[in-house]
Amino acid sequence: MRYIEDDLTNKTILITGGAGFIGSNLALYFQENHPAAKIVVLDSFRSGETLSNGNLKSFGHFKNLIGFRGEIISGDINDKDLLLDLEINYKFDYIFHEAAISDTTALEQDLMIKTNVNAYKDLLDLAVAHDANMIYASSAATYGNAESPQRVGREAPNNVYGFSKLSMDNLSRQYMETSDISIVGLRYFNVYGAGEYFKNSTASMILQFGHQLLSGKNPRLFENSDKILRDFIYVGDIIQANIKAMKPKESGIYNVGTGKARSFQDIVDILQKELGTSFECEYIPNPFIGSYQFHTEADITTTKEALGYEPAYEMEDGIKAYVGEIKRIYESEVK
Ligand SMILES: NC(=O)c1ccc[n+]([C@@H]2O[C@H](COP(=O)([O-])OP(=O)(O)OC[C@H]3O[C@@H](n4cnc5c(N)ncnc54)[C@H](O)[C@@H]3O)[C@@H](O)[C@H]2O)c1
Repeated sequence: MRYIEDDLTNKTILITGGAGFIGSNLALYFQENHPAAKIVVLDSFRSGETLSNGNLKSFGHFKNLIGFRGEIISGDINDKDLLLDLEINYKFDYIFHEAAISDTTALEQDLMIKTNVNAYKDLLDLAVAHDANMIYASSAATYGNAESPQRVGREAPNNVYGFSKLSMDNLSRQYMETSDISIVGLRYFNVYGAGEYFKNSTASMILQFGHQLLSGKNPRLFENSDKILRDFIYVGDIIQANIKAMKPKESGIYNVGTGKARSFQDIVDILQKELGTSFECEYIPNPFIGSYQFHTEADITTTKEALGYEPAYEMEDGIKAYVGEIKRIYESEVK
């Protein structure tokens, strides 16, 4: 389904982080719905390199791009020579910037700021040089434990990841004042959907619970999981917001969630219904009390106004749309 009328003939689109979860969904979306556009994916892909928390430094995986026929560049957004090469040899009309250290538990502050903030500035300069629209991924992590519903302007990040995303937003505001390009920051809430499996343990709890149930295990939840609420958003709505952000009423920073908070217990209950299982839940003490978000819920008023964004997936719809893929991934990758 097309969200904008323009068929994007003769337009060149750069997607950084295009081998990751959201970036690959964007790449495949454009290929299917705007085949006249030229799509360039830039991603560092995964290597064996890990962070001190044991997680991979980058999660990009070729399997996310199977079926993609556009150009693919393996490279690091921190590589200034590469960015210069892009500036000289391409002319981008739109940049979708998804590349990042996306692991919210990463402890390397130096690498996080360098990759998420400093490289973003270089990409903003590239956008200005090409007169390209910039649409980039910010995050609900900018809010930390700020009260619900979360609103732009009331940030309180409590980890370096959230801080890095807020710094990207601050930088964007400067560029909105000093340049003529369109810049839209999208603060994604908790995203789930096809393409997230290769994020390993940082994939959504929807996928993780789905695979627990498929392997015949009792789902393990934190105590009081019916009261731990998040704004879980299906990747289809994230794509909608990104595409509509190509033609915003005005540059700005906008929340992208459903506007509704749902519980972790809801996830398991909906999955059990979809999978036809009735495993008993096991409840374990929550070790993160004190540093845990108990209620996130996006205020999406300005997103609707500026982008014409309208979430289309309640959690029931998102899980229904996703469950076939949860099973396919289980059969092909987990079993
Ligand atoms: N998934 C979510 O719930 C969520 C929520 C809020 C914000 N975000 C943000 O959305 C964006 C996409 O997230 P995702 O869930 O698809 O994560 P992801 O980890 O699957 O995608 C990020 C991609 O960036 C690539 N990458 C990392 N470092 C790079 C570098 N130095 N140079 C080039 N490529 C590099 C990785 O290989 C990966 O493919 C990220 O900016 C993330 O912070 C995601």
